[in-house]
Amino acid sequence: MSELFSKIKIKDMEVRNRIVMPPMCMYSSDDDGHAKPWHLIHYATRAIGGAGLIIQEATAVEKRGRISARDLGLWDDSHVEGLARIVAEVKKHGAKMGVQLAHAGRKCGAPGEDLIAPSPIAFDETYGVPREMTREDIMQVIEAFKAGARRALMAGYDIVEIHAAHGYLINEFLSPLTNKRTDEYGGSLQNRARFLKEVVKAVREVWPEEKPLMVRVSAEEYAEGGNHPEDIAEMINLVKGEGVDIIDVSSGAVVPAKIDAYPGYQVKFAETIKEMTGLPVVAGGLITVPEMAEEILKNGRADMVFLGRELLRNPYWPLMAARRLGDDIKWPEQYERSKI
Ligand SMILES: Cc1cc2nc3c(=O)[nH]c(=O)nc-3n(C[C@H](O)[C@H](O)[C@H](O)COP(=O)(O)O)c2cc1C
Repeated sequence: MSELFSKIKIKDMEVRNRIVMPPMCMYSSDDDGHAKPWHLIHYATRAIGGAGLIIQEATAVEKRGRISARDLGLWDDSHVEGLARIVAEVKKHGAKMGVQLAHAGRKCGAPGEDLIAPSPIAFDETYGVPREMTREDIMQVIEAFKAGARRALMAGYDIVEIHAAHGYLINEFLSPLTNKRTDEYGGSLQNRARFLKEVVKAVREVWPEEKPLMVRVSAEEYAEGGNHPEDIAEMINLVKGEGVDIIDVSSGAVVPAKIDAYPGYQVKFAETIKEMTGLPVVAGGLITVPEMAEEILKNGRADMVFLGRELLRNPYWPLMAARRLGDDIKWPEQYERSKI
């Protein structure tokens, strides 16, 4: 059996293989963040295709935390029913399902919302200048993450992922480029990590101890004066004691910066995070070839791999990858007659 198709257990979640579908916005909800048939079909198809763990797209914990006006939401109890249907369907097909709890901060793209951030600096000329968050705002957002996690539990997700990457609100606190605060939430690594730490702590008050919690980070900001993998690892070390089980390693989008993206360009960041924090990591970025995924796992560079756009192109990638690696995995019963 290949590493790619070996099981992994994180807390009470046993995943059938190491293939992760990372969160990818579908911009397809209704005006109020409710799921539509598109979401059910989209996620269930990847479960049928053999992915091990599916992390639902950025799902806003506050209306003002949406990346776009068509983001899914978990800011209201009315969101739970539609999402629970998706989770149940995905699980029926053998995959585990998580949700990425998100707040866009200064990168909120839903019109007419209150733009908030640690410091009043716009991302670029296409975004407005955000309002510097007060202590009350900080407490409100922490409560919103907690309420989102409570609803995620009601919907039946196996894991929650806290979105601390890509220049959204939590990442804005972590980065010295976007956080110029002079209170206890800005300055030192310890202070910049405080908001994430308080979010994780609050989420853990409602998210059961036996269930895994993942954090997604931008390990490299590709800009002078920005965070590098070592800084992010140090901040994870300050936060992990609150109940972090695994890190999903991405990069960029904190400030407008050019990225030299090539197959596996983020894997070295994942290795650094794994080594410095001792936590399991998910690595990815432009992975399309089964042997490459296998190499990353077999050399111990990461514990799981994510394939984003490749799974959009081909939801059945895992079924074909197993054949390529010589693994005889179970196909969906309905498709058995097409198994090569
Ligand atoms: C359409 C699309 C939407 C995305 N939305 C999110 C998102 O909601 N949250 C997130 O953390 N990353 C998001 N990403 C980034 C992906 O999760 C992934 O990290 C990225 O596509 C690189 O992996 P890949 O080269 O395998 O596609 C998105 C990417 C795409 C292509």
